[in-house]
Amino acid sequence: MQKLRDSFNRIHDYLRISLTDRCNLNCIYCNPADSMVKKINRHDILSFDELLRLIDIFAGRLGIKKIRFTGGEPLVRKNVMEFFRAVHELKMKYGLETGLTTNGTLLEDKLLDLKKYGLGKLNISLDSLKPERFEYITGKNNFNAVINSICKAMELDFTPLKINVVVMKYVNDDEIIDFVEFVKDTNMNVRFIEFMPFGNNRWNRGGFVSCGEIKNTIEEKYRLKEITNPANFVAKDFLIENHSGKVSFISSISNHFCESCNRLRIDAQGKMKLCLFSTGEDELNFKDLLNNPAYSDNDICGLISNSLYNKKRIHPAAEELLKLEENNMLSIGG
Ligand code: 5AD
Repeated sequence: MQKLRDSFNRIHDYLRISLTDRCNLNCIYCNPADSMVKKINRHDILSFDELLRLIDIFAGRLGIKKIRFTGGEPLVRKNVMEFFRAVHELKMKYGLETGLTTNGTLLEDKLLDLKKYGLGKLNISLDSLKPERFEYITGKNNFNAVINSICKAMELDFTPLKINVVVMKYVNDDEIIDFVEFVKDTNMNVRFIEFMPFGNNRWNRGGFVSCGEIKNTIEEKYRLKEITNPANFVAKDFLIENHSGKVSFISSISNHFCESCNRLRIDAQGKMKLCLFSTGEDELNFKDLLNNPAYSDNDICGLISNSLYNKKRIHPAAEELLKLEENNMLSIGG
Protein backbone atom coordinates (compact mmCIF):
# COMPACT_ATOMS: atom_id res chain seq x y z
CA MET A 1 0.00 0.00 0.00
CA GLN A 2 1.21 3.45 -0.95
CA LYS A 3 1.78 5.85 1.96
CA LEU A 4 1.07 9.55 1.98
CA ARG A 5 4.36 11.22 2.80
CA ASP A 6 5.21 14.94 2.65
CA SER A 7 8.59 16.56 1.99
CA PHE A 8 9.41 16.51 5.71
CA ASN A 9 8.87 12.76 5.81
CA ARG A 10 5.68 13.00 7.81
CA ILE A 11 3.36 10.10 7.06
CA HIS A 12 -0.30 11.10 6.82
CA ASP A 13 -2.72 8.38 7.89
CA TYR A 14 -5.46 10.45 9.50
CA LEU A 15 -8.21 12.19 7.54
CA ARG A 16 -10.74 14.66 8.91
CA ILE A 17 -13.83 15.21 6.81
CA SER A 18 -16.17 18.14 7.30
CA LEU A 19 -19.71 17.06 6.38
CA THR A 20 -21.28 20.52 6.40
CA ASP A 21 -20.45 24.13 7.19
CA ARG A 22 -23.80 24.60 8.93
CA CYS A 23 -24.22 24.51 12.67
CA ASN A 24 -27.21 24.86 14.98
CA LEU A 25 -25.12 26.77 17.53
CA ASN A 26 -23.53 30.21 17.25
CA CYS A 27 -20.46 29.85 19.44
CA ILE A 28 -18.73 33.19 19.81
CA TYR A 29 -15.32 31.78 18.87
CA CYS A 30 -16.44 29.78 15.84
CA ASN A 31 -19.76 30.79 14.32
CA PRO A 32 -20.74 34.14 15.86
CA ALA A 33 -24.31 35.15 14.99
CA ASP A 34 -23.05 38.24 13.16
CA SER A 35 -20.36 36.33 11.23
CA MET A 36 -19.87 37.58 7.68
CA VAL A 37 -18.47 34.25 6.50
CA LYS A 38 -20.47 33.13 3.47
CA LYS A 39 -22.28 29.79 3.66
CA ILE A 40 -21.53 27.20 1.03
CA ASN A 41 -24.32 26.67 -1.47
CA ARG A 42 -25.95 23.30 -0.74
CA HIS A 43 -25.26 22.05 -4.26
CA ASP A 44 -21.55 22.68 -3.83
CA ILE A 45 -21.21 20.40 -0.82
CA LEU A 46 -19.73 16.96 -1.48
CA SER A 47 -22.54 14.42 -1.86
CA PHE A 48 -22.51 11.23 0.19
CA ASP A 49 -21.64 9.22 -2.92
CA GLU A 50 -18.69 11.49 -3.61
CA LEU A 51 -17.57 11.18 -0.02
CA LEU A 52 -17.80 7.39 -0.08
CA ARG A 53 -15.69 7.28 -3.23
CA LEU A 54 -13.10 9.50 -1.60
CA ILE A 55 -13.02 7.38 1.55
CA ASP A 56 -12.55 4.31 -0.62
CA ILE A 57 -9.60 5.99 -2.36
CA PHE A 58 -7.98 7.28 0.83
CA ALA A 59 -8.44 4.09 2.86
CA GLY A 60 -8.11 1.56 0.06
CA ARG A 61 -5.11 3.01 -1.77
CA LEU A 62 -3.42 5.66 0.32
CA GLY A 63 -3.05 4.12 3.75
CA ILE A 64 -5.48 6.31 5.69
CA LYS A 65 -6.22 4.45 8.93
CA LYS A 66 -8.45 6.82 10.80
CA ILE A 67 -11.25 9.15 9.74
CA ARG A 68 -13.04 11.70 11.88
CA PHE A 69 -16.23 13.41 10.74
CA THR A 70 -16.62 17.03 11.74
CA GLY A 71 -18.52 20.11 10.60
CA GLY A 72 -20.01 22.68 11.25
CA GLU A 73 -22.18 20.26 13.16
CA PRO A 74 -22.14 16.94 11.28
CA LEU A 75 -25.44 15.79 12.75
CA VAL A 76 -27.41 18.65 11.16
CA ARG A 77 -26.76 17.15 7.73
CA LYS A 78 -29.86 15.46 6.30
CA ASN A 79 -29.74 11.63 6.23
CA VAL A 80 -26.33 11.61 7.87
CA MET A 81 -27.08 8.33 9.66
CA GLU A 82 -27.60 6.56 6.34
CA PHE A 83 -24.23 7.84 5.28
CA PHE A 84 -22.66 6.50 8.48
CA ARG A 85 -24.21 3.12 7.77
CA ALA A 86 -22.48 3.08 4.38
CA VAL A 87 -19.21 4.24 5.96
CA HIS A 88 -19.45 1.25 8.28
CA GLU A 89 -19.05 -1.08 5.31
CA LEU A 90 -15.84 0.66 4.26
CA LYS A 91 -14.72 0.65 7.86
CA MET A 92 -15.08 -3.13 8.00
CA LYS A 93 -13.49 -3.60 4.58
CA TYR A 94 -10.36 -1.58 5.42
CA GLY A 95 -10.19 -1.87 9.21
CA LEU A 96 -10.63 1.88 9.58
CA GLU A 97 -11.05 3.66 12.87
CA THR A 98 -13.85 6.22 12.73
CA GLY A 99 -14.89 9.04 15.00
CA LEU A 100 -17.25 11.97 15.23
CA THR A 101 -16.82 15.48 16.60
CA THR A 102 -20.15 16.98 17.59
CA ASN A 103 -21.68 19.67 19.77
CA GLY A 104 -23.88 17.00 21.35
CA THR A 105 -27.19 18.81 20.91
CA LEU A 106 -28.64 16.35 18.38
CA LEU A 107 -26.77 13.30 19.57
CA GLU A 108 -28.72 11.48 22.24
CA ASP A 109 -31.19 9.59 20.05
CA LYS A 110 -28.47 8.67 17.53
CA LEU A 111 -26.03 7.07 19.94
CA LEU A 112 -27.33 3.53 19.60
CA ASP A 113 -26.98 3.63 15.82
CA LEU A 114 -23.57 5.28 16.00
CA LYS A 115 -22.49 2.44 18.24
CA LYS A 116 -23.88 -0.06 15.74
CA TYR A 117 -21.98 1.61 12.91
CA GLY A 118 -18.75 1.55 14.88
CA LEU A 119 -18.42 5.32 15.09
CA GLY A 120 -16.93 4.89 18.49
CA LYS A 121 -14.57 7.78 19.00
CA LEU A 122 -16.76 10.61 20.17
CA ASN A 123 -15.55 14.13 20.85
CA ILE A 124 -18.22 16.37 22.30
CA SER A 125 -17.70 20.12 22.52
CA LEU A 126 -18.86 21.75 25.75
CA ASP A 127 -17.45 25.06 26.94
CA SER A 128 -19.40 25.64 30.13
CA LEU A 129 -21.10 23.63 32.83
CA LYS A 130 -23.39 26.52 33.66
CA PRO A 131 -26.60 26.66 31.58
CA GLU A 132 -26.73 30.49 31.40
CA ARG A 133 -23.13 30.70 30.35
CA PHE A 134 -23.61 27.94 27.80
CA GLU A 135 -26.34 30.12 26.33
CA TYR A 136 -24.08 33.16 26.29
CA ILE A 137 -21.32 31.24 24.47
CA THR A 138 -23.50 29.32 22.00
CA GLY A 139 -26.49 31.64 21.59
CA LYS A 140 -28.81 28.68 22.28
CA ASN A 141 -30.38 27.24 25.39
CA ASN A 142 -29.96 23.53 24.81
CA PHE A 143 -27.41 22.84 27.50
CA ASN A 144 -29.52 19.97 28.85
CA ALA A 145 -29.55 18.19 25.51
CA VAL A 146 -25.73 18.11 25.55
CA ILE A 147 -25.54 16.87 29.14
CA ASN A 148 -28.12 14.16 28.40
CA SER A 149 -26.09 13.04 25.38
CA ILE A 150 -22.92 12.87 27.46
CA CYS A 151 -24.66 10.80 30.17
CA LYS A 152 -26.11 8.41 27.62
CA ALA A 153 -22.77 8.05 25.81
CA MET A 154 -21.22 7.09 29.14
CA GLU A 155 -23.99 4.57 29.80
CA LEU A 156 -23.42 3.06 26.37
CA ASP A 157 -19.74 2.87 27.17
CA PHE A 158 -18.37 4.97 24.33
CA THR A 159 -14.61 4.93 24.82
CA PRO A 160 -12.72 7.11 24.47
CA LEU A 161 -15.26 9.82 25.27
CA LYS A 162 -13.67 13.24 25.01
CA ILE A 163 -15.06 16.59 26.07
CA ASN A 164 -13.54 19.53 24.18
CA VAL A 165 -13.37 22.85 26.06
CA VAL A 166 -12.12 26.00 24.34
CA VAL A 167 -10.76 28.15 27.16
CA MET A 168 -11.30 31.92 26.89
CA LYS A 169 -10.21 34.47 29.45
CA TYR A 170 -13.08 36.17 31.34
CA VAL A 171 -15.52 33.83 29.59
CA ASN A 172 -15.00 30.34 31.03
CA ASP A 173 -11.49 30.26 32.50
CA ASP A 174 -13.00 30.11 36.00
CA GLU A 175 -14.46 26.67 35.17
CA ILE A 176 -11.22 24.79 34.61
CA ILE A 177 -11.39 22.97 37.95
CA ASP A 178 -15.14 22.36 37.51
CA PHE A 179 -14.40 20.53 34.25
CA VAL A 180 -11.67 18.44 35.87
CA GLU A 181 -14.15 17.51 38.60
CA PHE A 182 -16.81 16.78 35.99
CA VAL A 183 -14.67 13.98 34.51
CA LYS A 184 -12.42 12.89 37.35
CA ASP A 185 -14.46 9.89 38.51
CA THR A 186 -15.61 8.84 35.04
CA ASN A 187 -13.90 7.34 32.00
CA MET A 188 -14.06 10.67 30.18
CA ASN A 189 -11.20 12.79 29.03
CA VAL A 190 -11.54 16.57 29.24
CA ARG A 191 -9.42 18.34 26.64
CA PHE A 192 -8.60 21.98 27.12
CA ILE A 193 -8.06 23.66 23.75
CA GLU A 194 -6.29 26.98 23.27
CA PHE A 195 -8.49 29.61 21.68
CA MET A 196 -7.34 29.87 18.08
CA PRO A 197 -7.65 32.89 15.81
CA PHE A 198 -9.77 32.76 12.68
CA GLY A 199 -10.79 35.64 10.47
CA ASN A 200 -14.29 35.86 11.94
CA ASN A 201 -13.81 35.38 15.67
CA ARG A 202 -12.32 38.54 17.17
CA TRP A 203 -9.39 36.68 18.66
CA ASN A 204 -6.86 38.74 20.58
CA ARG A 205 -3.99 37.99 22.93
CA GLY A 206 -6.00 39.45 25.83
CA GLY A 207 -8.58 36.70 25.63
CA PHE A 208 -6.03 33.96 25.27
CA VAL A 209 -5.19 31.47 28.01
CA SER A 210 -2.26 29.16 27.33
CA CYS A 211 -2.25 25.49 28.14
CA GLY A 212 0.64 26.19 30.52
CA GLU A 213 -1.61 28.50 32.54
CA ILE A 214 -4.49 26.02 32.47
CA LYS A 215 -2.23 23.23 33.69
CA ASN A 216 -0.90 25.39 36.53
CA THR A 217 -4.44 26.12 37.66
CA ILE A 218 -5.24 22.41 37.78
CA GLU A 219 -2.04 21.51 39.57
CA GLU A 220 -2.89 23.82 42.43
CA LYS A 221 -5.49 21.19 43.34
CA TYR A 222 -4.69 17.91 41.53
CA ARG A 223 -1.59 15.97 40.66
CA LEU A 224 -1.27 15.20 36.97
CA LYS A 225 0.78 12.35 35.56
CA GLU A 226 1.75 12.57 31.91
CA ILE A 227 0.80 9.67 29.63
CA THR A 228 1.23 11.36 26.22
CA ASN A 229 1.77 8.95 23.38
CA PRO A 230 5.05 10.12 21.83
CA ALA A 231 4.01 8.90 18.37
CA ASN A 232 1.44 11.60 17.93
CA PHE A 233 1.26 14.38 20.43
CA VAL A 234 -1.46 16.68 19.17
CA ALA A 235 -2.76 16.50 22.69
CA LYS A 236 -0.69 16.12 25.80
CA ASP A 237 -2.52 13.62 27.99
CA PHE A 238 -2.48 13.28 31.76
CA LEU A 239 -4.00 11.03 34.39
CA ILE A 240 -5.52 12.78 37.37
CA GLU A 241 -3.77 10.99 40.21
CA ASN A 242 -6.10 8.68 42.18
CA HIS A 243 -8.91 9.19 39.68
CA SER A 244 -10.09 7.44 36.54
CA GLY A 245 -10.67 10.53 34.38
CA LYS A 246 -8.07 12.13 32.15
CA VAL A 247 -7.06 15.66 31.25
CA SER A 248 -5.48 16.76 27.96
CA PHE A 249 -4.11 19.98 26.57
CA ILE A 250 -4.17 21.07 22.94
CA SER A 251 -1.76 23.94 22.58
CA SER A 252 -2.01 24.82 18.89
CA ILE A 253 -0.90 28.39 19.55
CA SER A 254 1.61 28.39 22.42
CA ASN A 255 3.38 25.25 21.30
CA HIS A 256 2.41 24.03 17.88
CA PHE A 257 2.73 20.33 17.17
CA CYS A 258 3.30 20.59 13.43
CA GLU A 259 6.33 18.32 13.48
CA SER A 260 4.15 15.34 14.33
CA CYS A 261 1.26 16.30 12.04
CA ASN A 262 -0.30 13.24 10.40
CA ARG A 263 -3.54 14.90 9.34
CA LEU A 264 -5.23 15.85 6.15
CA ARG A 265 -8.57 17.56 5.92
CA ILE A 266 -11.35 17.76 3.38
CA ASP A 267 -13.66 20.70 3.81
CA ALA A 268 -17.39 20.62 3.20
CA GLN A 269 -17.10 21.67 -0.44
CA GLY A 270 -14.39 19.16 -1.19
CA LYS A 271 -11.20 21.18 -0.93
CA MET A 272 -8.29 19.29 0.47
CA LYS A 273 -6.63 21.20 3.29
CA LEU A 274 -3.05 20.27 3.97
CA CYS A 275 -3.15 22.24 7.22
CA LEU A 276 -5.98 23.60 9.37
CA PHE A 277 -4.56 27.03 8.67
CA SER A 278 -3.66 26.73 5.01
CA THR A 279 -5.02 29.29 2.62
CA GLY A 280 -6.25 27.04 -0.13
CA GLU A 281 -3.83 27.73 -2.93
CA ASP A 282 -2.18 24.64 -4.40
CA GLU A 283 -4.86 22.45 -2.88
CA LEU A 284 -7.01 19.92 -4.67
CA ASN A 285 -10.69 20.45 -5.38
CA PHE A 286 -12.35 17.05 -5.15
CA LYS A 287 -15.75 18.31 -6.28
CA ASP A 288 -14.20 19.07 -9.68
CA LEU A 289 -11.94 16.02 -9.83
CA LEU A 290 -14.63 13.49 -8.94
CA ASN A 291 -16.97 14.93 -11.53
CA ASN A 292 -14.46 14.98 -14.31
CA PRO A 293 -14.65 11.69 -16.24
CA ALA A 294 -11.07 12.20 -17.38
CA TYR A 295 -9.83 11.32 -13.89
CA SER A 296 -9.82 7.71 -12.69
CA ASP A 297 -9.41 6.78 -9.02
CA ASN A 298 -5.82 6.02 -9.87
CA ASP A 299 -5.26 9.50 -11.31
CA ILE A 300 -6.84 11.08 -8.25
CA CYS A 301 -4.54 9.00 -6.06
CA GLY A 302 -1.51 10.34 -7.87
CA LEU A 303 -2.72 13.93 -7.55
CA ILE A 304 -3.27 13.51 -3.81
CA SER A 305 0.21 12.06 -3.26
CA ASN A 306 1.82 14.85 -5.26
CA SER A 307 -0.12 17.61 -3.55
CA LEU A 308 1.37 16.59 -0.21
CA TYR A 309 4.67 18.08 -1.28
CA ASN A 310 3.03 21.52 -0.98
CA LYS A 311 2.57 21.04 2.75
CA LYS A 312 4.52 23.58 4.80
CA ARG A 313 6.70 22.58 7.71
CA ILE A 314 4.77 24.64 10.29
CA HIS A 315 1.76 26.93 10.37
CA PRO A 316 2.21 30.72 10.73
CA ALA A 317 2.11 32.59 14.06
CA ALA A 318 -1.22 33.57 15.64
CA GLU A 319 -1.26 37.18 14.43
CA GLU A 320 -0.65 36.02 10.86
CA LEU A 321 -3.48 33.51 11.10
CA LEU A 322 -5.93 36.28 11.96
CA LYS A 323 -5.48 37.70 8.48
CA LEU A 324 -6.80 34.57 6.84
CA GLU A 325 -10.33 35.87 6.60
CA GLU A 326 -11.63 33.05 4.48
CA ASN A 327 -10.50 30.44 6.93
CA ASN A 328 -12.89 29.32 9.58
CA MET A 329 -13.58 26.26 11.60
CA LEU A 330 -17.11 25.92 10.29
CA SER A 331 -16.15 24.65 6.89
CA ILE A 332 -12.88 22.97 7.86
CA GLY A 333 -13.99 21.39 11.09
CA GLY A 334 -10.99 21.54 13.36
N1 5AD B 1 -10.26 27.88 18.81
C1 5AD B 1 -10.13 26.68 19.40
N2 5AD B 1 -10.96 25.65 19.19
C2 5AD B 1 -11.98 25.85 18.35
N3 5AD B 1 -12.97 25.01 17.95
C3 5AD B 1 -13.74 25.68 17.07
N4 5AD B 1 -13.28 26.94 16.89
C4 5AD B 1 -12.18 27.07 17.68
C5 5AD B 1 -11.27 28.13 17.95
N5 5AD B 1 -11.38 29.32 17.38
C6 5AD B 1 -13.09 23.67 18.49
C7 5AD B 1 -14.50 23.24 18.73
C8 5AD B 1 -14.42 21.73 18.60
C9 5AD B 1 -13.13 21.47 17.89
C10 5AD B 1 -13.29 20.66 16.66
O1 5AD B 1 -12.59 22.72 17.57
O2 5AD B 1 -14.95 23.61 19.99
O3 5AD B 1 -14.41 21.13 19.85
